[in-house]
Amino acid sequence: MRVLLLGPPGAGKGTQAKRLTGAFGACQVSTGDILRNAAQEETPLGQKAAAIMVKGELVPDALMIDLVAERLRQDDCRKGFILDGFPRTLEQADGLEGILKAMGSELDCVFLIRVPEAVIVERLEGRRSCRGCGALYHLVFHPPARAGVCDRCQGPLYQREDDWAETIRARLRVYEAQTAPLIQYYRDRGLLKEIDGVGDVDEIQNRIRQAWGEARA
Ligand code: AP5
Repeated sequence: MRVLLLGPPGAGKGTQAKRLTGAFGACQVSTGDILRNAAQEETPLGQKAAAIMVKGELVPDALMIDLVAERLRQDDCRKGFILDGFPRTLEQADGLEGILKAMGSELDCVFLIRVPEAVIVERLEGRRSCRGCGALYHLVFHPPARAGVCDRCQGPLYQREDDWAETIRARLRVYEAQTAPLIQYYRDRGLLKEIDGVGDVDEIQNRIRQAWGEARA
């Protein structure tokens, strides 16, 4: 499985990618997670990225393309990968095509998860993430058993700095201007599968699996 999940902030890309990795043995490549880890470790990349992410803007394309090229060459991606949060611009999409070509590979499918703006805001404002294992929660839709504590690893839960209302609006504007053109880009290549992203997590997972089955048929 070599696929990518496309969709606005809060569409559920990370939630669905984590489930798909379990089902298909492909690894999740989340550029957002890679950047947040780098920021937490205060590496030079992390420090640069943190200042950009907090404003809801995009990290420069050349940096992201190099980062993903290195990640996709790692052993755990050999069985396949689920890209979550990359590409985000036309330049990154061309970069990905080049990376895969050099590896003698190509994308199987692109899932576009569609969610209306009101749902996005509700999902992002209630999101909590685990500092330890990265598990995702939602205060209303998927609360942890004990407030502020991860069910899986007992790590502390936190709210992402870019999930405040003003930054969410900035991220949505960036998505429309810079990422939405990828919809036509992948439609033109016959790779796009549209998924209704409204409903519970299992329902959406089933829609993605069905679309994957159709893409493989
Ligand atoms: P990134 O981390 O990629 O953020 P994003 O794309 O904005 O997406 P999110 O992680 O916010 O949402 P998601 O779709 O994964 O939703 P989730 O599953 O968490 O990027 C962050 C920043 O890093 C960017 O702004 C940029 O600065 C930088 N960056 C990253 N990649 C880059 C790149 N390629 N180029 C340049 N810069 C880059 O779900 C959200 C919430 O909803 C959760 O609480 C979840 O529990 C809940 N939920 C999910 N599904 C459902 C459901 N069906 N019903 C109810 N609740 C649900």
